[in-house]
Amino acid sequence: MYSLSTKPFLKEKYYSSRLLLKKIYKFIFSRFSFLFSFRTKVKLKIISRPHYAYCIFNACQLASKLGLKSISIIEFGVATGNGLVCIEEIVSEMEKIFDIKVEIYGFDSSQGLPKPKDYRDLPYHWKEGFFKMDYEKLKHKLRKTKLIIGDLKDTSNTFFEKYSPAPIGAIFHDLDFYSSTKIALNLFKEKNKFFLPRIFNYFDDILGTEIELYNDYTGERLAINEFNEENNDIKISPCYNLICQKNTFSWYHQIFITHIFKHNLYNSFISKENQQIIRD
Ligand SMILES: C[S@@+](CC[C@H](N)C(=O)[O-])C[C@H]1O[C@@H](n2cnc3c(N)ncnc32)[C@H](O)[C@@H]1O
Repeated sequence: MYSLSTKPFLKEKYYSSRLLLKKIYKFIFSRFSFLFSFRTKVKLKIISRPHYAYCIFNACQLASKLGLKSISIIEFGVATGNGLVCIEEIVSEMEKIFDIKVEIYGFDSSQGLPKPKDYRDLPYHWKEGFFKMDYEKLKHKLRKTKLIIGDLKDTSNTFFEKYSPAPIGAIFHDLDFYSSTKIALNLFKEKNKFFLPRIFNYFDDILGTEIELYNDYTGERLAINEFNEENNDIKISPCYNLICQKNTFSWYHQIFITHIFKHNLYNSFISKENQQIIRD
């Protein structure tokens, strides 16, 4: 008898047939996805951008457990708006599941990437002008998003005063640069009332390939690390409940949770009542 560990070619065959089965299963489910509820689709991982759904679902769930009636979702870096279209789709489902109103804000200069400031913006990978937005076209694609157009260093100064957003529960970071992400993260220092006590973040540019070679000393990762070094009462942490799972997806490593420890709702109990160890 052969064992998988002694015969590498059998092992390879076994894994490639598993991969094929997985692909067939995914194809069938995506064809008949209209038969499933949104919750089931998230569980079966057959929706586009499951990482967006994960963050929005959990932000709504947290808000609902805290008794809040509205929250905001932000995308930093909009470009053609594919991310926002996806957010709107997910939000319309979430508003049906949870009794909650969701505001959506998208930040972008509309001019594409600015000029990289230094090595920390990875000029070996990004160029000024990449990902320009077609504002007129995008306006017609979106139903409820408010687009905040301009360089983030300016728009971030007036956003809270101008829009007085409902508490922000999920943020999608896709500004690509260290310098832009640094500005976005500093918004966490605004008044606590503008945030949930724990915020679900997705960082788009922290894994990559052998070209980008994202690391802790440049790009979005550096912005996260510096934020944590500079702030004691607010920390941005990996999402350990995801990355500890047996079958992980790469996006599990791109979800981070912002903890605002001094938020007046941070300590509100939201877990299961009557937790008791059952004796045998
Ligand atoms: C990769 S694109 C976003 C893609 C989009 N999230 C999607 O999923 O389709 C990055 C965007 O960040 C924007 N951006 C980068 N730095 C910025 C800054 N300082 N102010 C405003 N927008 C900025 C650029 O205009 C660009 O459109």
